[in-house]
Amino acid sequence: FIPPREVSEGGGILAKDKLGTPIPASQILANPPGTRALIAGLASEPTYLIVQDDGSLGTRGIVDNCTHLGCTFPWNPVDQQFQCPCHGSLYDPEGNVVRGPAPLPLKIVHVVVKDEAIWIYPWNETDPRTNEQPWWV
Ligand code: FES
Repeated sequence: FIPPREVSEGGGILAKDKLGTPIPASQILANPPGTRALIAGLASEPTYLIVQDDGSLGTRGIVDNCTHLGCTFPWNPVDQQFQCPCHGSLYDPEGNVVRGPAPLPLKIVHVVVKDEAIWIYPWNETDPRTNEQPWWV
C-alpha cells in the first residue's frame, strides 16, 4: 500500500492511525461486519469508520467527540450504541441522541475509498439525520 499525497482538493485527508500512518481500506475491512474502527480523521479528530454488513466501508464516519462536553466514547456492540462514559449520553448507530445530556447528534464526515486509500472529507451539506444544516458548519 503506497499512500497517495495526503491532502486532496476539496479538503479531504487520508485516514490515519494514531501514530499518523495512513490506514489501507483492507486493514479496516478485515474486521467483521458491524465493526466500528477508530481512525484519526479531520483535524486529527478521532472518527469511527463502519464495516457494513456487505463488507464495504460505510460512506459516513462518526466523530468520536460527545456533543455534551467533548468526551470520547466507545461503541457498545451489544446495545448497538455509542455510550459516553462521562455523563451517560447514549447515541444510536447513526449518531442520533438516544439519551442526554448530549444536546446534538454526533458530527459526521464523508468516507471515500479510492484504490485502498481511505479519504475523509468534511460534511458541509444537509445532515441527513435531521434534514437541517449541520450544527458544526
Ligand atoms: Fe458525554 Fe457529558 S461529555 S455525556
